[in-house]
Amino acid sequence: MKICVVGTGYVGLVAGAGFAEFGNDVICADIDEDKIKRLEEGEIPIYEPGLEKLVERNVKDERLHFSTDVDGAVSDVDIVIVAVGTPPLPDGSADLSHIWDVARTIGAHASGFTIVVDKSTVPVGTVNRVRELLAETGPGKEFAVVSNPEFLKEGDAVRDFMKPDRVILGCDDERAGKVMRMLYAPFLRTSDRLIVMDSLSAEVTKYAANAMLATRISFMNEIAALCSKVGADVKNVRYGMAWDERIGSRFLFPGVGYGGSCFPKDVKAIIATGAEHGLELKVLNAVEEVNGKQKELLADMTIEHFGGSLEGLTVALWGLAFKPRTDDVREAPAKTIAEKLLAAGATLRLHDPVARETFSRELPPSDRVVYFDSNYEAATGADALLLCTEWYAYRTPDFRRVKELLRQPVIFDGRNIWHPEYMREMGFHYACIGRP
Ligand SMILES: NC(=O)c1ccc[n+]([C@@H]2O[C@H](COP(=O)([O-])OP(=O)(O)OC[C@H]3O[C@@H](n4cnc5c(N)ncnc54)[C@H](O)[C@@H]3O)[C@@H](O)[C@H]2O)c1
Repeated sequence: MKICVVGTGYVGLVAGAGFAEFGNDVICADIDEDKIKRLEEGEIPIYEPGLEKLVERNVKDERLHFSTDVDGAVSDVDIVIVAVGTPPLPDGSADLSHIWDVARTIGAHASGFTIVVDKSTVPVGTVNRVRELLAETGPGKEFAVVSNPEFLKEGDAVRDFMKPDRVILGCDDERAGKVMRMLYAPFLRTSDRLIVMDSLSAEVTKYAANAMLATRISFMNEIAALCSKVGADVKNVRYGMAWDERIGSRFLFPGVGYGGSCFPKDVKAIIATGAEHGLELKVLNAVEEVNGKQKELLADMTIEHFGGSLEGLTVALWGLAFKPRTDDVREAPAKTIAEKLLAAGATLRLHDPVARETFSRELPPSDRVVYFDSNYEAATGADALLLCTEWYAYRTPDFRRVKELLRQPVIFDGRNIWHPEYMREMGFHYACIGRP
C-alpha cells in the first residue's frame, strides 16, 4: 500500500518505519525541516532502541522516504496516517490545532479514495470533526476516517509497534475496515487481536487505558506514603498484592511520579473532556494531585535532610529522562526535582546516558547546573546523590567508589532500585520511597 505518515515524531517515525518493514511504500512528512534534513542524512532525531537499524534498512530498500512537502506527500496515497502532537493547552484540554491543519491539508490535496487514519491521541469526537473538515476543504472527494489510537511505549516502541498486544480500529466504513485489516494482518499473525468498534469508543479507549496506568502509579505512590508513615515496606506490600490475578504485578512500582509526553497530558485531557460534559472525574483529579506532590518528594526529602536549605551544597542527579531507554524529558520528574533543588540553593551535577541534550534544552548549563559524561564524575564532590531514572547502568554501581567520590555519603533513591540493608552496611544515609 502507499502510505503517508504525517508527523515524524516518536509515534510517526516508528509507525512509518514499521509499515515500510512489511513491504508498504511509506513517506513520512513533517513540517520540521531540521528533523527531515537529519533523517535524509541518515541521522535518527530521537533515541529509541532498534529504530536506527529499522529506518536504515527501509530507506536503503527504498520503501521509506522523508519529506517536508506535506501537501505533495498526502496527494497520491491510499492511506494518510496522522501522528502529529496533541500537547496540552493551559486549561489541560488537548491542543488540536495540528490535527485540524493536517485535515485541511489532506482535504485540499488528496486525490482518489483516501483513508485518513488518526493515530494521535485525541479527545472524543475529533474524528467526526476531521470528517467535516475534509468535506469542507475537499468537496466531492472520497474519504473514510478511521480512529486507530497508538499504544506503543517509548523505550520499547519498535517491539510494541511490530508486535502489538492489540490494535484498536474505530471504523464505520466497510471499505476502509477491509484495507486496515490487510494493513495490520502481518503485525497480528500470532494473535488476531484487532478490535473494531465505533470511533467515539476508540478515542475514549486510548485515554481510559493511559488513565488506568497513571492511576496504578498514583495509587501505589499513595500506598508507599502510608508505608512510610507506619513503618511498613511497600516492596513487601506490592509482592503480596501482585499474586492476586485480578491485580497483577505490573505498573505497581512507587517512585518519583509519572512523567512523559502521554500520561500527564492524557489524564488532564480526559478530565477536561469530562468537565466539558458536566462530569467531574474525581478519581483522575486525585491521580493528578497525588502525582504533582510525588514529583516533588525526592527534592523535599533532600531539603528536609539538610535542615531546610541547600545553600552551599552540591547535589548529583542520576537519570534525567522521564523513564529509561528514552531521551524524552517532557514532564520528566527530574525537571521538577532539579528546579526545586535549585530554588533551595543547591548546585547540580547531572548525568543521563542519553537525555543530556534534551534535558539541557530545558535546563541550560550554568555555573550551578553542570552536565557530565560519566555518572561517577557527576557524583564527585556532591553532598547527596539522587536517583531519578532507573537506567540499567545505575542498577549496580560501584558503591565503594561512589562513597569515596561523594563529599557526604547521602543517597536518595527515587526508584527503589538499591537495597536499604546493603546501603546501610556500606555506611550511606540511604532513603527511598515507602521502605524503612
Ligand atoms: N510518544 C508516545 O509514547 C506516544 C504513544 C502513543 C500515542 N502518542 C500520541 O501520538 C501523538 C504524537 O506523539 P509523539 O510523541 O510522536 O509527538 P512528537 O512531538 O514526537 O511528534 C509530532 C510531530 O508532528 C509534527 N507536526 C506538527 N504539526 C504538523 C503538521 N501540520 N504537519 C506535519 N507535521 C506536523 C511535529 O513537527 C513533530 O515532529 C500524540 O497525540 C501523542 O499523544 C504518543
